[in-house]
Amino acid sequence: MPRTDNDSWEITESVGATALGVAAARMADTESDNPLIHDPFARVFLEAAGEGMWNWFASGDLPPEVIEAEPDVPLRMQGMRDYMASRTMFFDQFVLDAANAGVQQVVILAAGLDARSWRLPWPAGVTVYELDQPKVLEFKSSTLQERGAQPTAKLVNVPVDLRHDWPTALRQAGFDPDAPSVFTAEGLLPFLPSAAQDLLFERIQALTAPGSRAAAEVPGPEFNNPDFRDRQRAQMQRYRELAARLGHGEHDFPDFEELWYFEDRTDVGDWLREHGWDVSVLTTVEMMARYDRRPPEGIEDGSPDTLFVWALRS
Ligand SMILES: C[S@@+](CC[C@H](N)C(=O)[O-])C[C@H]1O[C@@H](n2cnc3c(N)ncnc32)[C@H](O)[C@@H]1O
Repeated sequence: MPRTDNDSWEITESVGATALGVAAARMADTESDNPLIHDPFARVFLEAAGEGMWNWFASGDLPPEVIEAEPDVPLRMQGMRDYMASRTMFFDQFVLDAANAGVQQVVILAAGLDARSWRLPWPAGVTVYELDQPKVLEFKSSTLQERGAQPTAKLVNVPVDLRHDWPTALRQAGFDPDAPSVFTAEGLLPFLPSAAQDLLFERIQALTAPGSRAAAEVPGPEFNNPDFRDRQRAQMQRYRELAARLGHGEHDFPDFEELWYFEDRTDVGDWLREHGWDVSVLTTVEMMARYDRRPPEGIEDGSPDTLFVWALRS
């Protein structure tokens, strides 16, 4: 279903299901022979969510019909798992470095099913604010609490739509804009219209004191390239038809053509530099190389075209 200005979702539908896809990739890496990350909660989320297309990401044994029709799929899946595991490590290290340097307010925008508040070794005194849609946070908290899990920092859920007035909700939840903080936006920006992305960074600017840090996964230069989009659309259509042939609802397959806003966007790194931040940028290949992973070779568009921007407010 196409997006609307005020749409909202459960964990198993629309944008919410993409958080399950990421969790599936984390589970697959965690349980692989050569794991980069350790996220035992990813499996817990998938078991609670039940059957769905998101499990394709986790599956080592794709049906033979899938391999026959789309021989590249195993390599693409492995590429996505490696990408997601590397991305997870990148943001894990970013927030932990900040916390270990004395920053005590961590704000995870679009936290989805990332379990950082429940699995990272936070130093004492850290508060993690998790922002996402109400039903996503509710699913996450209730699932983990039912399993007896305990957060490893003070966790404050801020159920809110990030196109709405989330800074007020964050302050009301106890966030202090006069103290340093660290903000992350992982797997979020393509789901926001370009104007909402601009507003998001203006709001981060207004909420951050000197010494604050921010990191974001941002759409790369190809994101709105028509040729790239045509290739993505054609691939997605084939996958949807294949899913339908295998007995899944065609619409169970997440359609990024509908979920993402393909619009020209402000260069986040440049914008932050102009607003007083010391900025560094990594390409996908550079980011993955940090963790000794790389996009799959021999296939076109084998990894997302994204940039990893991180910055210190001086
Ligand atoms: C691909 S998932 C990424 C989740 C998490 N950051 C991770 O990497 O595991 C996208 C997340 O963005 C959230 N999201 C997207 N648009 C949002 C909005 N307007 N308001 C609140 N959350 C939003 C979704 O609910 C979902 O949890």
